[in-house]
Amino acid sequence: MSGIVGYIGWQNAIPILIDTLKRLEYRGYDSTGIAVIKDSSLGIRKRVGNIDVLKESLYNEPLNGMNGIGHTRWATHGKPTEENAHPHIAGKIAIVHNGIIENYLSLKESLLKEGRKFLSDTDTEVIAHLIDKNFTGNLENAVQKTLKEISGTYAIVAISPADPEKIVIARNENPIVIGLGRGEFFIASDASAILSYVKDIIFLDDGEIAVIKKEGVQVYDKNNRQVEKNIRRLGLNPILMEKGGYKHFILKEIFEQPRAIWDTVRGRVSGGDIIFEDFKLTDLDIKNIKKVFITGCGTSWHAGLIGKFMIEGISRIPVEVDISSELRYRNPIINSDTLIIAISESGETVDTIAAMRNGKKNGAKTVSICNTIESSLSRESGSTINIHAGPEISVASTKTFTSSLSALYILSVYLAKLKGVINDNETAGLINDIVAVMGKIEDVMGLEEEIEGLSKMFYEKKGFLYLGRGINYPVALEGAMKMKELSYIYAEGYPGGEMKHGPIALIDEHTPVIILAPKNSLYEKSLIDIEEVKARNGVVIVFATEGDTEVMKRARHVLYVPHASEYLFPIIMSIPLQFLAYYVALRRGLNVDRPRNLAKSVTVE
Ligand code: F6R
Repeated sequence: MSGIVGYIGWQNAIPILIDTLKRLEYRGYDSTGIAVIKDSSLGIRKRVGNIDVLKESLYNEPLNGMNGIGHTRWATHGKPTEENAHPHIAGKIAIVHNGIIENYLSLKESLLKEGRKFLSDTDTEVIAHLIDKNFTGNLENAVQKTLKEISGTYAIVAISPADPEKIVIARNENPIVIGLGRGEFFIASDASAILSYVKDIIFLDDGEIAVIKKEGVQVYDKNNRQVEKNIRRLGLNPILMEKGGYKHFILKEIFEQPRAIWDTVRGRVSGGDIIFEDFKLTDLDIKNIKKVFITGCGTSWHAGLIGKFMIEGISRIPVEVDISSELRYRNPIINSDTLIIAISESGETVDTIAAMRNGKKNGAKTVSICNTIESSLSRESGSTINIHAGPEISVASTKTFTSSLSALYILSVYLAKLKGVINDNETAGLINDIVAVMGKIEDVMGLEEEIEGLSKMFYEKKGFLYLGRGINYPVALEGAMKMKELSYIYAEGYPGGEMKHGPIALIDEHTPVIILAPKNSLYEKSLIDIEEVKARNGVVIVFATEGDTEVMKRARHVLYVPHASEYLFPIIMSIPLQFLAYYVALRRGLNVDRPRNLAKSVTVE
């Protein structure tokens, strides 16, 4: 993870580096640093803490230069200290790095034997020393040589006052982009960080290295052959990346869900039918699909678990759902009749990319469900369903979860239709269901105040239990995860029927138990869950369907959400659970947009 940036041009690099780092803070925020070249020497500043700490230090003691690099760190090797913060310096080389160098220990040993001194515990410092060792006056040659000695994943940005008119960058499995300005160039881990400066972007591919000077950019492949790169014009609106009057990004993103879901669905449904232009499989390919694997991490994995209910229920294709870091290391039965659906907001999660690649190697068809246009995952998968939820700045996912669910739903209907499992009328009915849900999401937003009130009662609790059955069990998992990551309160999601096989021991008068009990095929069973918790003095909070008077007789705290079809209820239900986690965390005085230890884009194992 970590975010890396660079700038070369005619302006002072410092404010640009700070601004672009700030936009990448979601990738890590335990320490930060920058380096700039001025009058053939390096100016360096590093700080433990987030970008604001670094910014304040630069305000008190300014640096300047028109060629610089910066880094916001999510620690992998070594604690978040100033020594371990990037940039790392060796001789006349300064570098920032995102990724993991796997052979760094053996390289470090040899470099130590040669008398080189190391100041940090990081793997990155090894790269700086190797580039310095290989440097004979030309930075790109030294970087090229170094890349042959290291193994692992990386995006690297290097500068040197001994070759001061350039920045050299390289990529292997970690994203890096170059923004093309007039006489100036911007480098970042993610295009969204630089889109207020430029529209035209070059995405570096694995194995490539780029030399960036004020006059232009040259890109080379690993055999040092020059590569012609496509320039992509990005249509992202920088305004979407501001808080827009909300107190926090996460609150804004929760409220954006009606629009985000509409943008996922719009353009893919019309006149009672589904048009899936971005799904590149032929009708014959789809007819031949015998098995679907859904993969993802964290919230995206939860979306996949719900997707299984949708695809099996609507399209009648068997589905397995696997966490990507597990799927990539097992040996599942995947062949050309398999469809892999990889879900990732960022499209840069290293395990998800690897799991999808393994499937591809075994001949599977691949489709990704992504929010980030031109992400590594979307560029490598056979087709991409862009969810168009817009930039999600808060580290915890909200709108991209419900938008991914909407994408999975319309994909299920599409597969069902092409496989001949449903007829035109049924297709139109299922489409109507999602259109109806979009109308009800605004009503769900009205629950905010009630949930804020509820959070007063529970924000000092030590633990929460979330119970759901069937398709709502993954909703319980996601609700519990939002509570954990935002409030740092331990929360567990469990299938309602399984509670009595263990977690029931946790229940007492201090444990709030959130029970998802919509009026669906498992409603009666959820009533049993309510009774079992009450019998053990648990504090029950039930989320039920509007008009359900029965549940009111059984629980003190009931929150009503609008009715939705069984497959779509998870979309409606997730929103109040997001509010609950947000308000509990807010009352605990926590940083809701950037919870501790997390990073939005997990580009390391
Ligand atoms: C939780 C959260 C994470 C991500 C996970 C995968 O709120 O955001 O669990 O879902 O790191 O990230 P993507 O979807 O970018 O692959």
